[in-house]
Amino acid sequence: MSDLDRLIADAARCLQAGGLVALPTETVYGLGADALNPLAVARIFEVKQRPYFDPLIVHVTDLDAARSLVTHVPPAAVELSRQFWPGPLTVVLEKLPVVPDIVTAGLPSVAIRVPAHPIAQALLRAAGCPIAAPSANLFGRISPTTAAHVREQLGSLVDIVIDGGPCRVGVESTVLSLLEAPPVLLRHGGVALEDLAAVIGDIALPAATDGSGPLPAPGMLTQHYAPRTPLRIVSSLTDVETAADAGILAFREFDRRGDFGRVEILSPTGNLAEAAANLFAAMRRLDAAGLQLILAEPAPDTGLGRAINDRLQRAAAKPTG
Ligand code: TXA
Ligand code: MG
Repeated sequence: MSDLDRLIADAARCLQAGGLVALPTETVYGLGADALNPLAVARIFEVKQRPYFDPLIVHVTDLDAARSLVTHVPPAAVELSRQFWPGPLTVVLEKLPVVPDIVTAGLPSVAIRVPAHPIAQALLRAAGCPIAAPSANLFGRISPTTAAHVREQLGSLVDIVIDGGPCRVGVESTVLSLLEAPPVLLRHGGVALEDLAAVIGDIALPAATDGSGPLPAPGMLTQHYAPRTPLRIVSSLTDVETAADAGILAFREFDRRGDFGRVEILSPTGNLAEAAANLFAAMRRLDAAGLQLILAEPAPDTGLGRAINDRLQRAAAKPTG
């Protein structure tokens, strides 16, 4: 047995006993508990300081495991699972009573995902239970894409942190509700909207919210993924004024490094997947650099660029109260 196998076996026992395990997924690190144990799930909310009205994603090994949590699996879910599972897609379906209300914030639906990371898969199989796991950060802060990020924020509050290296995708899963027709996109993420539409056709986008009215879906808080340093989105970095106390979050190559306190380039060649994978770690480094302001250049608004821009907009939004 390798050290990693032993750690996974320990983590599986920990989950079975109601403990909390931070685990790598291909999107971001998750803070996991046995999804069928309400007390264990309650600890997730406490540790994250997450409001109980924000429901969690339940992770399972495959579509068959998902079937035991939902009333029925519509044809669109079968097609999507063939194409995108395991992977960064979460679907919302009507739940069975076996899923505790605390997981779904009292909603009659549950969000389900089959993660692709081999450690997440191994842990699911070893534990033998579905794993409820939000991103392993404090509520409203930047999601972790390395085990070190998790330890910095949640360190002593988690029973076991499994280090699976940096996350390959780097932004959270795409969340799609299959409760209505056409399906509704609730969060841009690791699977591009265009790729979903190519498989199931029409997808509705929820009405934009400025954060003042009721939310069209739980978890769609305007401010989220936020660094503590103010962040402003600028349409072009070409003419920004030199400022030693400002940081730059550039989407592609940027040659005025000397003009700013710190410069982070997400992808020198402008590759969307590379940029997404680097986004949260770059935001963290800028946030730690003692700057007055972060100026961020948006990605092209297509494919994974939509997920990147969504995270930038939330990081730029003022706290809503
Ligand atoms: O990539 C990911 O999705 C990561 C990894 C760990 O899997 N998880 C993650 O979880 O980002 P979290 O809790 O940070 O985001 C879950 C999102 C929230 O926006 C939540 O509101 C939404 O999914 N959600 C969960 N259950 C829902 C439901 N029944 N109906 C609508 N939205 C739901
Ligand atoms: Mg999160």
